[in-house]
Amino acid sequence: MKTILLSPLQLRGLELKNRIVVSPMCQYSAEDGFANDWHFVHYGSRAVGGAGLIIAEATAVSPEGRISPYDLGMWKNEHVEKWKQINHFIHQQGSLSGIQLAHAGRKASTGCLWREGDVYLFPDKGGWQPLAPSSIPFESGAPVPLEMDVELIEWVVEEFRKSAQRSNEAGFDVVEIHAAHGYLLHQFLSPITNKRTDKYGGSFDNRVRFLLEVVDAVRQVWPVSKPLFVRISATDWAEGGWDEAQSVKLAMLLKNRGVDLMDISSGGLLPDAKVQIGYGYQVPFAARIRQEADMKTGAVGLITKAEQAETILTNGLADIILVAREFLRDPYFPLHAASQLKDEIAWPVQYERAKPH
Ligand SMILES: Cc1cc2nc3c(=O)[nH]c(=O)nc-3n(C[C@H](O)[C@H](O)[C@H](O)COP(=O)(O)O)c2cc1C
Repeated sequence: MKTILLSPLQLRGLELKNRIVVSPMCQYSAEDGFANDWHFVHYGSRAVGGAGLIIAEATAVSPEGRISPYDLGMWKNEHVEKWKQINHFIHQQGSLSGIQLAHAGRKASTGCLWREGDVYLFPDKGGWQPLAPSSIPFESGAPVPLEMDVELIEWVVEEFRKSAQRSNEAGFDVVEIHAAHGYLLHQFLSPITNKRTDKYGGSFDNRVRFLLEVVDAVRQVWPVSKPLFVRISATDWAEGGWDEAQSVKLAMLLKNRGVDLMDISSGGLLPDAKVQIGYGYQVPFAARIRQEADMKTGAVGLITKAEQAETILTNGLADIILVAREFLRDPYFPLHAASQLKDEIAWPVQYERAKPH
């Protein structure tokens, strides 16, 4: 049976061979922002496993935009080289490669769970002062961020532009701008974290301004033939915060600025938000934005089964399926999905003899 999940999707000049996408997942395994052999094997394995597109983890556009000192970066030219090798391999497997460009804002400067533990790193322990739209810490005990002035905002826009340029040189096919999960761009979107009184705060138009400037800067240097994604949190799950209606309005603006697909997640802005979690719990957000803004969307969040993914697509709720933790459990998720759905998928020739018939 020919499924939608395993049928190709054309985005600008590129074709995803199927609609299964590796969702960005921090590996906390970089030094000074450099990708290394861990990233080569980790991302390479998912390409061997048949993913249509692999979006690399949150990659910082500047050193202080990292969540932890172990995040990937794209803030200097030297970061490009290793990615050329990784992307070449991914392409050899017929998969596309994406990069999520990110700035952590006030959620920066944390430790890594298996090194320092679940702690903030202050400057005496190798941390730094985070940036934010307003000087409000994420939670008690978190570092107090520096409120960005207009010059700093313009500087970060430039960092996104230069990082997108380097991503192109590195051979990436897709850039995804990370405006979700309570990181810097999301902090500007939400009235809970953005208390500014200048042109970057207050009204909806003012709160989305920074993101639109980043999108414009990236689009200027990102080739017309290559797709641009934006990941948002469709809701803060909190009274008075960013919500679905604003997400739809934002999608309409992004559509006219060269954004090809929105990857729809939720939450992350507040430590104590009441999130209603369940299988496919964020799919309705992707569906609403797709329908009301006529924007292509990606569904993500507790999608773990091939049939579940196929149903989302056949019901017209999203255009691609992003899978995160299930891809850590099973790098060959697409190969297994094909046999579960009784559809065809090309196995790596080296593995052909293990293919179920
Ligand atoms: C280990 C890990 C790291 C993650 N890192 C990122 C990240 O770098 N960027 C991002 O947007 N989401 C990140 N996420 C969230 C996932 O991309 C995804 O949205 C979330 O895990 C829900 O999907 P799932 O139920 O398929 O795991 C991460 C999730 C995990 C488990």
